[in-house]
Amino acid sequence: MKAVRLHELGGPEQLTLEEIDRPAPGADEVLVRIHAAAFNRRDVFITQGLYPGIELPRTLGSDGAGVVAALGAGVDDLELGAPVVINPMLGWGNDPHVWAPGASILGMPRDGTFAEYVVVPRINVYPKPPGLSMEEAAAIPLAGLTAYRATFTRGELRSGETVLIPGIGGGVQTFVLLYAKAIGARAIVTSGSEEKLERAKQLGADVAIDYRSDDWQKIARKAGPIDLVVDSSGGDTLAKSLSALRPGGRVVVYGGTRGESAIKLFSLFWNHIDIRGTSMGSPADFRAMLEVFGSGLKPVIDRVYPMSEAAAAAERMAASEQFGKIILQIA
Ligand SMILES: NC(=O)c1ccc[n+]([C@@H]2O[C@H](COP(=O)([O-])OP(=O)(O)OC[C@H]3O[C@@H](n4cnc5c(N)ncnc54)[C@H](OP(=O)(O)O)[C@@H]3O)[C@@H](O)[C@H]2O)c1
Repeated sequence: MKAVRLHELGGPEQLTLEEIDRPAPGADEVLVRIHAAAFNRRDVFITQGLYPGIELPRTLGSDGAGVVAALGAGVDDLELGAPVVINPMLGWGNDPHVWAPGASILGMPRDGTFAEYVVVPRINVYPKPPGLSMEEAAAIPLAGLTAYRATFTRGELRSGETVLIPGIGGGVQTFVLLYAKAIGARAIVTSGSEEKLERAKQLGADVAIDYRSDDWQKIARKAGPIDLVVDSSGGDTLAKSLSALRPGGRVVVYGGTRGESAIKLFSLFWNHIDIRGTSMGSPADFRAMLEVFGSGLKPVIDRVYPMSEAAAAAERMAASEQFGKIILQIA
């Protein structure tokens, strides 16, 4: 089968399309014929060596949608050919509050979805929401799940509240915006690109601010009061976001693209600010997220690339040129 593989670190250009053996499902596993996959920042970080526990060579890719191609021993509740979407969260465990030790994400160290076939545990295979195309279904798993848990399970965003979403061009952040608008919350977004701010307004963003302006947080605060910040930028973006939050507000952090953040402790305790970390999501989060997409919501797709142009697709993400999800067409 064809697969997009990484043999050496050195950036997106190291991704190569090659022919490898088709894997076979073991007990309690399913072979999925992938139709479409999607990129996450994680895939780019892995090519750059900026991810823990890298083992090479590997097929990257956490997100995928396709059809059931073969069943391993002990799996008898799926139809061959059934359209499915894969939950890339492996081994979450039984505690809804936190993942279990040893939990991992599809696509490193386990071979991922940038291939014609992938083997995954049965419990990670879910019916594709019928209203979504294969490309749309492939766009949602990792980013949609992370955003769902950040917005609702951890962020507890409610209708009528205001959420600040820094860096709206990000794959996860566009989902936070979709979810916020779907429940009738207000959304303030930032971006370093006028074009992305415009796109965000078309998706319902109430206020759109260019973060290249030094005091964007003051503009955000005036547009508030802000109840929740959902952030993955880190660096000074997180510190500035905190200063825009209303007293008693909440911050959910799921990444640190721009590095570590120095936070002013006085304003944290004086204003009773609640900072919460989150990563990926539980099986219950994944099911709840799929229900949202089952009721008509559509993910934002940036571009669709053929498998042979995986390196170019990853380079687009490395340069943060995208708005929404970058898709790899497999079938
Ligand atoms: N913990 C988890 O489970 C989990 C899951 C998914 C992602 N993550 C992490 O979350 C981060 C984003 O992931 P992703 O896949 O959504 O990546 P992505 O699509 O590449 O998004 C990154 C975004 O960062 C934004 N950005 C860059 N400089 C910024 C600044 N100065 N202020 C605000 N935003 C800025 C950009 O927004 P603009 O283009 O609008 O400027 C860019 O689109 C990564 O660090 C990733 O590792 C963690």
